[in-house]
Amino acid sequence: MSANASFLSPGEGETVFSVSAAPIKFGAGALGELGADAQSLGMKRVALFVDAHVLASAPGETALASLRAAGLDVGIFDNTRCEPNSDSFEEAAAFARDGAFDGFVSLGGGSVMDTAKAANLLATYPDELIAYVNAPIGKAKPIPGKLKPHIACPTTCGTGSETTGITIVDLKSVGLKTGIASALLKPSLAIVDPATTETLPGGVVAASGFDVLSHAVESYTARPFTSRPRPAHPSQRPPYQGSTPYNDIGSIAAIRLGGKYLARAVRDAGDLEARHQLMFASTLAGLAFGSAGVHVPHAMSYSVATLKHVFTAPGYEERDPMVPHGIAVVINAPAAFRFTASANPQRHLEAAAAMGADIAGARPEDAGEILARTFIALMRETGLPSGIAALGYGEADVPALAEGAYAQQRPLVMAPRSVSKQDLEGIYRNALRYW
Ligand SMILES: NC(=O)c1ccc[n+]([C@@H]2O[C@H](COP(=O)([O-])OP(=O)(O)OC[C@H]3O[C@@H](n4cnc5c(N)ncnc54)[C@H](O)[C@@H]3O)[C@@H](O)[C@H]2O)c1
Ligand SMILES: [Fe+2]
Repeated sequence: MSANASFLSPGEGETVFSVSAAPIKFGAGALGELGADAQSLGMKRVALFVDAHVLASAPGETALASLRAAGLDVGIFDNTRCEPNSDSFEEAAAFARDGAFDGFVSLGGGSVMDTAKAANLLATYPDELIAYVNAPIGKAKPIPGKLKPHIACPTTCGTGSETTGITIVDLKSVGLKTGIASALLKPSLAIVDPATTETLPGGVVAASGFDVLSHAVESYTARPFTSRPRPAHPSQRPPYQGSTPYNDIGSIAAIRLGGKYLARAVRDAGDLEARHQLMFASTLAGLAFGSAGVHVPHAMSYSVATLKHVFTAPGYEERDPMVPHGIAVVINAPAAFRFTASANPQRHLEAAAAMGADIAGARPEDAGEILARTFIALMRETGLPSGIAALGYGEADVPALAEGAYAQQRPLVMAPRSVSKQDLEGIYRNALRYW
């Protein structure tokens, strides 16, 4: 693996990185152990967060049966919104406050797991949502203490939210998607049962699978942890460290798995090897980006997801028009990596090779284009839109898109080179149409 470029002279930079283990149970059949695990965490009265669709499907039946067999008292909240907003978070928090629960279980995609995290926070330490939201959009109030135990059980092969200390929300008051980030939001246990992905529509696998690949490539190409100044006190180390030798292992493994299995998992719901391996990639990438951070494609995704709601992706036909998170991210990826590659061409080439590209004879100046084309080929193969123009955006929207992305300083500072508002405008223009 190549070293990432450093921003500081030798002797000035950070020399230490940390690894916080996330308790994970992985494997087909793991969901059937949910009740026993909830009991071990001391839960007696459990709030089960789920969406109505998942509740009525096989994973919903398994989870409920397991919780009830363990003698737990279960309150169900199934009104979770796909791509949650501040209203749906408040509704979930009211349910959690009123129910006097001693534990939380989430069963679903990132939307459900993020809703449970927010409900746990707002019920345990009541305050306005905006108080906890990342600065500069919110007030970034530190979470006062430990939350109630939360077991997160993903049913999409995508977000990695089951191990991250992040919850993402569409804040209606400011018209922007953003998040709350704190190690205290990390679930107490992730139960990752890849069999839950067998009922996923191909379009949801495509959207969530590209989220996985973007998490992994962004973590791998994030600025290195050594590029930050050493903190005066260990407690001042940021939650996102940048790429570290440890995160690199999971990122590169997830890129390989995504490159090998994503198209197969989208095409054929019966290809269990592909779907199960993509679920493993999702967890590996979640662990990596939850510690390293993501950068430009994610920073740009939030305005793509919030400024226009005119697009319906395959697999999301039952929802109101909206851009699913993974599509809102990967649609920027080719243009964003063309921009970032000059900061560490070798890493961009390694990512392309791990996705399956032939990089024999590639020159450093080709790195961005090679990685961009590798993404574009996979996007075409899996039926993704051809650029942000296909989501309803045109040249006239570029300044507003860039304004929204520029507000996302938390991911932007993790980019391997600095990114101005003008740079973002250029990247969005480049993302209008790839083919
Ligand atoms: N917290 C984090 O670390 C993090 C990271 C990335 C993304 N996110 C957030 O996660 C959300 C997206 O989550 P997602 O991509 O997992 O999708 P999702 O949770 O929005 O679910 C997508 C759709 O798939 C359906 N579905 C879920 N599991 C199913 C199953 N097993 N079978 C059939 N249908 C199923 C849902 O009903 C829904 O319609 C966004 O709000 C995004 O911002 C959070
Ligand atoms: Fe993501």
